[in-house]
Amino acid sequence: MDTPATHTPATHAAATNTATAAMAEILELDAEVLGTYLSELTTWLGELSDREPVRIVDLGSGTGTGAIALARRFPRAGVSAVDVSPQMLHRLSVKASGLGLADRVHGVQADLDQEWPALGPSDLVWAAAALHHLADPERVLSHVFDALRPGGLLAVTEMDFFPRFLPEDIGVGRPGLEARLHAALKGAPAAGWTDHLVRAGFTPEAERAFVIDLPTPLPVATARYARACLRKLRSHLDGQLPAEDLDALDTVTDDESPHGVLRRDDLTVRTTRTTWVGRRP
Ligand SMILES: C[S@@+](CC[C@H](N)C(=O)[O-])C[C@H]1O[C@@H](n2cnc3c(N)ncnc32)[C@H](O)[C@@H]1O
Repeated sequence: MDTPATHTPATHAAATNTATAAMAEILELDAEVLGTYLSELTTWLGELSDREPVRIVDLGSGTGTGAIALARRFPRAGVSAVDVSPQMLHRLSVKASGLGLADRVHGVQADLDQEWPALGPSDLVWAAAALHHLADPERVLSHVFDALRPGGLLAVTEMDFFPRFLPEDIGVGRPGLEARLHAALKGAPAAGWTDHLVRAGFTPEAERAFVIDLPTPLPVATARYARACLRKLRSHLDGQLPAEDLDALDTVTDDESPHGVLRRDDLTVRTTRTTWVGRRP
């Protein structure tokens, strides 16, 4: 019997590439729309550092939005961007070259669930929206501890919830569409990273919540960012919401619809990120 087309290794690889490309687009748009927050965060880490970081590691770097923000914030630093995905690292290296940062931002391909790459001693390790992907984050945190010099910092950032963009009255006959779709996807509340940091040997240095509610005029990439995020949420929602909500969601991500996010002038950007900072004693 023929293997169904949907189950061949080639179609699996194609689906993985499509998913990676979609994630890469979200990461890029996220950094573009939330550039002010990224800049605030790197500035704060500079203030917490006992001296200017010159050896930085970005774990689960994705396309390198963090690695590049750090290289810009700390102009003497070399940044090793570690990721399991060659596609993500390719994007990072193209971007770093385009920005004249190729000599200071390097991709390192490694699966952190399998191996700890040889990175040398570091002043600052950054892990944004990355640790929750790992099978055993505490094992990785103990490697981070060993890789940091005494006094060096680890900064773990996680998104508390996916950004929200839509006004409350969206949802034909049933306002509150976006709240319902977030509620449908809500998992257990995140417990935070302080205990993990302590168990790995770090001294908790600071915890900061960044509450983001962008003022108008919004960055030009906002509509594309909203579309990419809402489409990503939509891909998890089959069977989780009534058909009328899914139809309404399809309408707001439809580029041809007059109600689609690309044509709306009533979007907002609201989200919260939290950063936990630990210091190696
Ligand atoms: C949500 S993205 C965050 C990317 C980036 N830190 C940012 O904030 O834009 C998570 C990244 O972790 C990477 N990743 C997931 N599991 C990994 C693993 N086991 N080893 C290394 N990287 C991993 C993924 O490839 C992806 O690029």
